[in-house]
Amino acid sequence: MTGKNTKASRTKANSPDTPHGFARGLTNYGDRDFSVYLRRTFASSMGYSRDMLDRPIVGIAHSASGFNNCHRHFPELIEAVKRGVLAAGGLPVEFPTISLGETFLAPTSLKFRNLMSMDVEEMTRAQPMDAVVLLGGCDKTVPAQLMGAASANIPAVQLVAGPMSTSRHRGERLGACTDCRRFWAKFRAAEIDAQEIDAVERRLASTAGTCAVMGTASTMAILAETLGMMPANSAACPAVDADRLRMAEETGRVAFDLVANPVRPSDIITAQSVENALRVLLAIGGSTNAVIHLTAIAGRLGIRVDLQHLNALSETTPVLVDLKPTGRFYMEDLYAAGGVPAILRELKPLLHLECRTVTGETLGERLDAVSWIDHEIVHRFSEPVRETGGLVALFGNLAPRGAILKRSAADPALFEKEGRAVVFTSLEDLANRIDSDTLDVTPDDFLVLQNAGPASEAAMPEAGYLPIPAKLARAGVKDMVRLSDARMSGTAYGTIVLHIAPDAASGGPLALVRNGDRIRLSVAKRLLELMVTEAELTRRRTENSLRINQPTRGYAKLYAREILQADEGCDFRFLKPE
Ligand code: FES
Repeated sequence: MTGKNTKASRTKANSPDTPHGFARGLTNYGDRDFSVYLRRTFASSMGYSRDMLDRPIVGIAHSASGFNNCHRHFPELIEAVKRGVLAAGGLPVEFPTISLGETFLAPTSLKFRNLMSMDVEEMTRAQPMDAVVLLGGCDKTVPAQLMGAASANIPAVQLVAGPMSTSRHRGERLGACTDCRRFWAKFRAAEIDAQEIDAVERRLASTAGTCAVMGTASTMAILAETLGMMPANSAACPAVDADRLRMAEETGRVAFDLVANPVRPSDIITAQSVENALRVLLAIGGSTNAVIHLTAIAGRLGIRVDLQHLNALSETTPVLVDLKPTGRFYMEDLYAAGGVPAILRELKPLLHLECRTVTGETLGERLDAVSWIDHEIVHRFSEPVRETGGLVALFGNLAPRGAILKRSAADPALFEKEGRAVVFTSLEDLANRIDSDTLDVTPDDFLVLQNAGPASEAAMPEAGYLPIPAKLARAGVKDMVRLSDARMSGTAYGTIVLHIAPDAASGGPLALVRNGDRIRLSVAKRLLELMVTEAELTRRRTENSLRINQPTRGYAKLYAREILQADEGCDFRFLKPE
């Protein structure tokens, strides 16, 4: 992944016919030369030499924040990116954007993903830079950066935080956050005591970097590399590995090369590369959230992700990667096994190899460099972990615009099942009653959560992983069918139907489910059916009165007015191309 044409890049970028660096995108004072003079005056106050002021600028948009543990090593990564840009002949200029630390935001980070994407789009467009490095990692940051970059469409290279390293508890390997949930489930079932859960809490996330399993952050990093927006093999490298610093340096060089040889996000993110990303999402048993994010990223360039097409791809794409939450290993093991190039190499027969990447190579050319794969972790195409993809979309009268099930993380014994609905009308209702000893529930029931979708006040949190009711958990029940319009953490597992669209808050059929209704799930038929007559549903529609407090000002008002459903990536209506 060495940078190319550095000298030529510099020469072309410095041509007087091509305004670059501080001469780009001038503040308007009605006198262009004065604008340049004034800007250089103020830039000089930062101590830049004349040589630096003349250079093309590579912006570094980063999301470091005291509220983002995953990004705590960003100062070091930023220095490495700068090294790469300077060595190539450019001037690196870092700037902060909104940061979205997954566990630090209420009601949920997804609510602010589009806000961050607007920040990235507008600041890369408004500030003088010839190319930009996008430095993110935690779940929503990479999608937001790619959405913003796609809309701004200036040459951009993604760099990610890299995954956390694992730690140990009583000899057992731990990594956030599949093990967070596993131990919490043990605590709820009274299998471990308060002292032990306290000890585990201090060991689950013990280094910088993103969650250590195939959660949303890892999935999105892998998809960014698959799309071609990152240098090869830069998604899976651990946050604390020296290789990550070398990758950061290389990312700086690659970004500088884009100044003279501009490959824009619209050249890279195409219908073909998006299909490659969907294939890889299925092959890695990736996060359900990635369906929403990829839909939003592609949507910024007018490319539609169709859930029926996802189902067709799922039938012909094997799961090749044995990582938690569906398998055994962690992200650091994937890197040691050959990283994303190893996955792409095995999946080669199914990929569009002609797709362009930020380094100027095609995807196919990148794969020629793969020399070794640990097949215990990245299985051979001919010997997959499972024959079909990790995700399926379900349709039916309960989900006319689709729902998502991560079948690779679910219990096949529950795939063809009819059950009685036990309904929770909101997250508050769920919290109040789920652990009540008087809750009328059996292991064969379907737990249904309403009003947790994108149009709800809750803004589609990762609450789709409904807890097993305490009395059933104590009796040893590990999984049940659970349905909602919410999302689920990429690190979670269970027979959990998510993203039901349209959601209950926007008047979708999910709002019409009542306690005791029968619901049919058939993964084989991709079916989610509310077994209630149309006449009764029509009657319920007239009685159904939603009580949503409409926000009256600020971002919340914008969100409520513009938010789209899950099948449109939960983007804002006005951010999609005309
Ligand atoms: Fe940042 Fe999991 S909390 S990636």
